[in-house]
Amino acid sequence: MTVKKEEIKGFLNSASNAAKLIREYIEKEKPIHVASHYDADGLAAGAIMGKCLARLGGKFRVRIERWLDENVVEGIAVTEKDTLIIFTDFGSGYLNLLGEGLSKHRVIILDHHQPVGESPSTFIHVNPHLHGINGSRDISGAGTAYLVAKALDETNVDLASVATVGALGDLQDKYEHKKLGGVNEIIVEDGVKSGFLKLETDLLFFGRETRPIHKALAYTTNPFIPGISGQEDASYSFLVKRAGIKPKSKDKWRALRDLSDEEKKKLFSALADYLASKGFPSDFALNLIRSVYTLTHEEPWTPLRDAREFAVLLNATGRMEKPGLGIALCMGDRAIALEQANAMLEEYRRNITKYLNWLNEEPERITELNNIYLVLGEDFIHENVIGTVSSILSNSLPKHEKPIIAYSTVHGESLIKVSARASESVKSKGLNLGEILRVAAEKYSGKGGGHDVAAGAQVPVENIESFVKLVDELVKKSLKET
Ligand code: C5P
Ligand code: ZN
Repeated sequence: MTVKKEEIKGFLNSASNAAKLIREYIEKEKPIHVASHYDADGLAAGAIMGKCLARLGGKFRVRIERWLDENVVEGIAVTEKDTLIIFTDFGSGYLNLLGEGLSKHRVIILDHHQPVGESPSTFIHVNPHLHGINGSRDISGAGTAYLVAKALDETNVDLASVATVGALGDLQDKYEHKKLGGVNEIIVEDGVKSGFLKLETDLLFFGRETRPIHKALAYTTNPFIPGISGQEDASYSFLVKRAGIKPKSKDKWRALRDLSDEEKKKLFSALADYLASKGFPSDFALNLIRSVYTLTHEEPWTPLRDAREFAVLLNATGRMEKPGLGIALCMGDRAIALEQANAMLEEYRRNITKYLNWLNEEPERITELNNIYLVLGEDFIHENVIGTVSSILSNSLPKHEKPIIAYSTVHGESLIKVSARASESVKSKGLNLGEILRVAAEKYSGKGGGHDVAAGAQVPVENIESFVKLVDELVKKSLKET
């Protein structure tokens, strides 16, 4: 366990303060406005708040945004009078912006991004970084919202599974065998104890319980396995010819869970050999062995059963501009919401495969500068999905010693959306991408920030070259200093 008792105590205290203010508003029947981020963690965080407010009979609304800027803040300030504003999974990186725009409002921020600026004394700011807890790895936005939900009422422990989905959506599984650690681990324990979660270690293919093995293998894009990810035929022939696995048993497709331990070992070593033949480091295949988090109350044949699949489903809804669907699923809606989200997921997957193949078509679309990889999405890769593409690439580039800076044009605006990712090994050399992107974006009239290993920015089109040049220099400087 990496979280110290004292640290967690202070953090939980601030969560209790937030819960107290929320309770006051509910008792007075005053409205509450929840604003959250559009990625899986943001949707999970917004839904956790929504669910616990609904249980308390609160008057509330959940609104989803792709980022925070002056327009969003002004929109809230003008329409929401005498309302409690709760920001989940964003806010901490933009304290001055919020302080100026919402000085007359009661505001709670439940976030895990690196704080920038000063939080006004009228705000309640719940953030792990303020208590010496690593917010990029050890707790998510959804986890932070969960702690407040639990402080409001112990019965909200069922939401621990949604908080786990959020943490996995933010790729916080950075411990051995892709396990969640720190405060996340405590939240997972809540889920396991209350019977909503199960934790195992296994080969992870996407759809380990739900799909024929070759399909599950082809669906696995994180890590991206060149020649197999996105290609069912190639995956089938790999399974049968190279791994020697029988795909069917008595005319019925087998899922990964149907394989014996012996067969799993065979499959794993065939994959390890294959990846090594493609130039990946010898330990890369270990990325396929993971801690698996199962939502035990979900139907076995749905993507909600596996917490990582649930997170991808949420990302699909948020990034394909249907965040309401994701929120509804987290709050318990099924039937039509699930059907629609599944359709969204198919489209999202097709897009990602299309984007990754497109990037591989021309060498100049992924280039190596002195200190960073540059990924040019142009106006082909949608700006909402460039973050996902960047994450996949960061787990898939064979020698990933430099951070990835990916960007796309924002449709209809003269802006560029930048998504940056760094590996843990680069981070351990002292790199802080959130800080680098913030400094570089601010210098060139944009906005940026985030976590040490995953950060983003919006920058005016005309400044993008200077911005990239500065990021390249700042990365070099930061690595040199350590
Ligand atoms: O958009 P993307 O997924 O690349 O963002 C990575 C992280 O950086 C997210 O956690 C996001 O909230 C954060 N970010 C930020 N400020 C921005 C853009 C992204 O804090 N302007
Ligand atoms: Zn988050």
